[in-house]
Amino acid sequence: MNLKEALKGKLTEKELQLLRRSFEIIGDIAIIEIPPELEDKKDLIIEALLTIHKNLKTVLQKTGEVSGTYRVAKYRILHGYETETTCKESGCVFKLDPTKVYFSSRLATERERIRDLVNDGEGILCMFAGVGPYPIVIAKKKNVRITGIELNPKAYEYFLENIRRNKVEDRIEALLGDVKEVIPSLGEKFDRILMPSPFIAEDYVYLLPHVVDRGTIVHYYTLAGEEDEKELPNKVERALSQYRMKSKVLFFRRVGSYAPRVNRYVTDIEIKDIELQ
Ligand SMILES: C[S@@+](CC[C@H](N)C(=O)[O-])C[C@H]1O[C@@H](n2cnc3c(N)ncnc32)[C@H](O)[C@@H]1O
Repeated sequence: MNLKEALKGKLTEKELQLLRRSFEIIGDIAIIEIPPELEDKKDLIIEALLTIHKNLKTVLQKTGEVSGTYRVAKYRILHGYETETTCKESGCVFKLDPTKVYFSSRLATERERIRDLVNDGEGILCMFAGVGPYPIVIAKKKNVRITGIELNPKAYEYFLENIRRNKVEDRIEALLGDVKEVIPSLGEKFDRILMPSPFIAEDYVYLLPHVVDRGTIVHYYTLAGEEDEKELPNKVERALSQYRMKSKVLFFRRVGSYAPRVNRYVTDIEIKDIELQ
């Protein structure tokens, strides 16, 4: 049963139309957006959510979009009080508090796609690692060495705990800091680089020459208007060429929507050549 079905007969047809069918479940927390016209129907909506998902402890209303350096949305607690939870994804567990760190369960399929591309033995760099979902999902299945960098101290704390909980301590090194400062001091080239922060990735392309070699694969996440979708691979190749990297986009796809007619995209790029300065 979905939310609309659960509310049939309790809300008018017009109100049901206003209700977004989708809501996100992270562990035992539900995150829902409620349009202003339905503000006075909150109790009915919470009741319906608790009927559909019996194990929910907390219901959060999203009151503001993901924003700020740490990319955290604004929430109001509608039900319960605990905002820390543990969720399962792809055979891994993640502890996190969505009111303090970024996490989206909607990216699970994308993380599995990347994991399945990885070969044993690879050295991988994950910029903007958050609470660690990309590194951990990969390291749980593949014998790799991953360096993950995260700036938000709270997300870093969860990243460390999630590494321990998933028993991948020997495969992942978590670093707290700004990629701008950490990357130039790594002194290492990687087989694969993940840039999973579409809102800001563009500003960090200039760091890639420190860590790529010929053959490195970069998974680059970005935002683009629907009308620019076809041009995206060329745009990404041009962005890299500004920093002396010749590259080829191997694959690109939409990984979700960001705003009306603006989507999140991933491009998988192979570094073909890099000019020495
Ligand atoms: C959109 S979130 C993605 C987190 C994670 N990759 C995920 O998918 O769950 C972007 C993350 O980058 C972190 N961040 C922002 N600027 C950063 C920087 N300059 N260096 C390192 N991390 C940064 C934020 O704190 C946030 O956790």
